[in-house]
Amino acid sequence: MSAPGFGRVLTEHMVTASWTSGRQWHDLGLSPYRPLPMDPAMAALHYGQTIFEGLKAYRQHDGSVGIFRPDAHAHRFARSAHRLMMPELPTPLFLRALEELIRADRAWVPDRPNHSLYLRPLLYAREAVLALRPAREYQFLLIAFVAEGFFNNDLSPVSVWVSTEYSRAARGGTGDVKIPGNYAGAFAAQAEATAHGCHQVVWLDSAERRWVEEMGGMNLFFVHGRGSQARVTTPPLTGTLLPGVTRDALLTLLADEGIPVAETPLTVDDWRELAARGEITEVFACGSAAGVTPVGTVRSADAEWTISGGRPGPITRRAAHLLTSAQRGTLPDPHGWVHQVS
Ligand SMILES: Cc1ncc(COP(=O)(O)O)c(C=O)c1O
Repeated sequence: MSAPGFGRVLTEHMVTASWTSGRQWHDLGLSPYRPLPMDPAMAALHYGQTIFEGLKAYRQHDGSVGIFRPDAHAHRFARSAHRLMMPELPTPLFLRALEELIRADRAWVPDRPNHSLYLRPLLYAREAVLALRPAREYQFLLIAFVAEGFFNNDLSPVSVWVSTEYSRAARGGTGDVKIPGNYAGAFAAQAEATAHGCHQVVWLDSAERRWVEEMGGMNLFFVHGRGSQARVTTPPLTGTLLPGVTRDALLTLLADEGIPVAETPLTVDDWRELAARGEITEVFACGSAAGVTPVGTVRSADAEWTISGGRPGPITRRAAHLLTSAQRGTLPDPHGWVHQVS
């Protein structure tokens, strides 16, 4: 529990629910964490009809437990289901599942700074059928694990490799929803980044191979200028990026602070040139798993450059502070983002 890492310390319970074309959603309930029986012909295994989410519950400053933006995650879960022709789990059932699991495993919600309870909803096609069509029987699952900061707990910057070999998503594809195949397809690019001495991969658009999209499983933000002149941009949601809940939260929190924010496309060449001219002063990535993570060094096949002297800059620190304060309830919650579990 003192060093849980990520995805290893699973809690004691799980929530399951079933959907069949005849009965629709039924049998949502809590049980001890257990292995699942699996038919070798299960459709999810063969054709990848599976979606998932990732969100967190945080021990609040007053000792209570709050889930950060579960409605937004419920909506994205429903969008992912729709894209893969699967039944959408209504938001009230999604919330009920989260609450039942957290009530049972409340003692697992850590109170150390940077530690949280990661919640993993999953929906898969359980029907045993090899016909190439959407299944008629589905299983919902919710499990949880104790998580610490994904990369680090002290805002040390990561290095990134700009991949021109691999693409994450194409227009009309599935890059804007959360499905396992997006992540399996990314492993080779991540291995390429590691082989070049980098922590993470930066994805470019697949059509022109020059527009910056995301970093691994996180959205990217660029700080232009300094001090009172600083403004922040993030790539627009073209349909190939995952619309991050944290991205949306930071756009709101930074704007609330009076820092200008815009969804503006950026090419990798402009990133390099603007950084060299001192106009891009900070870069950070964000997501539920890792919070705010500064980018220090960027490497590509023909160039390498450093951002902010390889240290986290003031806007990055501000963004990290605003986000953790919102998640842990240490600031007022004007947007109603924290869902208390009673
Ligand atoms: C590809 C990708 N981009 C961005 C994100 C960040 O999304 P969120 O802030 O909702 O966790 C994730 C994580 O879910 C992701 O997998």
